[in-house]
Amino acid sequence: MATINDNYLKLKAGYLFPEIARRVNAFAQANPDAKIIRLGIGDVTEPLPAACRAAMVKAVEEMGERATFKGYGPEQGYPWLREKIAAYDFQARGCNIDADEIFVSDGSKCDTGNILDIFGDDNVIAVTDPVYPVYVDTNVMAGHTGAANEKGEYEGLVYLPITAENNFTAQLPSQKVDLIYLCFPNNPTGAVATKEHLKAWVDYAKANGSIIFFDAAYEAFITDAEIPHSIYEIEGADSCALEFRSFSKTAGFTGTRCAFTVVPKNLTAKACDGSDVQLWKLWNRRQSTKFNGVSYIVQRGAEAVYSEEGQKQVKELVNFYLQNAKIICEKLTAAGLSVYGGVNAPYVWVKTPNGLSSWDFFDKLLNECNVVVTPGSGFGAAGEGYVRISAFNSRENVEEAMQRIGDKFKV
Ligand code: MLT
Repeated sequence: MATINDNYLKLKAGYLFPEIARRVNAFAQANPDAKIIRLGIGDVTEPLPAACRAAMVKAVEEMGERATFKGYGPEQGYPWLREKIAAYDFQARGCNIDADEIFVSDGSKCDTGNILDIFGDDNVIAVTDPVYPVYVDTNVMAGHTGAANEKGEYEGLVYLPITAENNFTAQLPSQKVDLIYLCFPNNPTGAVATKEHLKAWVDYAKANGSIIFFDAAYEAFITDAEIPHSIYEIEGADSCALEFRSFSKTAGFTGTRCAFTVVPKNLTAKACDGSDVQLWKLWNRRQSTKFNGVSYIVQRGAEAVYSEEGQKQVKELVNFYLQNAKIICEKLTAAGLSVYGGVNAPYVWVKTPNGLSSWDFFDKLLNECNVVVTPGSGFGAAGEGYVRISAFNSRENVEEAMQRIGDKFKV
């Protein structure tokens, strides 16, 4: 008799975003005339930069000629893309990262889950609370946790609360942890980490033999010149941190799919015989076995991000969403709500009014304003009492959504 991976049965209800979609669809069916504005999932709305489109069109043409046709590419990504990433995203910021330490992939969501393939099952794992749910759910699926309690916290994980009191940056754990997930600019709170904060984590990781999983998917939204874009801006991080990056939010690639993970060659972890093993070797082996690379066409599109016009166009795109975030912050503050984030990030973290629960405020905004947000409790127990508002939408929709919420809540 075939059996299943029982760990899946420990997962809470649906994954957060499908669960929101289910509720929104039910509302839409019952209210077919409602003009629903979706500021829930962080999915981009604006067209792909022209430079990326032109590069992809050219690549399609190349695929139509025998002389320039491409079959399988390197599983790790084409060298011309890896070299540009290393030069522009890392070396230009003083980070000592080489092209062959970049692994191009079809998404950071997949990479943050897949990376667990190369780690042992006995690591103590720390996540912030609230947190991007993929980090937690993939550990549950891999059998790294026990069951969830009534607050949705899984036995065996170390939760590090991030709250308004600590500026949404976690304190170092009081116990020893082996794997630590950090996301800056933060999803969901929109908070950023200073160099000092990241240095404290790097020092902790080096002292404890821990590995930091640094998710920098939103780094392009950093506006403050003092805030690091990469953990490798901190000396010594290449011996204790992996970094996840994505073209999804930077260049509007959520539907096009291209991301990358940085695995420095200095990074090692212990085998069960006590020896140090290079994580680069394991990830290279994992990707070569389970992944056939991102399509040539898409990688050419990603490469165009680094061209002169590409850089200009992605900056415009990012600034467009940041302006949306500014409008959201201003309008909600004027409506008497407490807001966080939204300055160096495309997410605004909003305290629910009158002590409403996250889901109650979600329902209220859906039913009374026809605006979809993400309930903070979906990101973890400490997210209760907040909702996340995404700045990824058209200007018109953001303005209308804020108008509707402002009209409802103005005191
Ligand atoms: C989010 O809304 O948190 C993101 O869109 C999720 C993702 O990037 O996978």
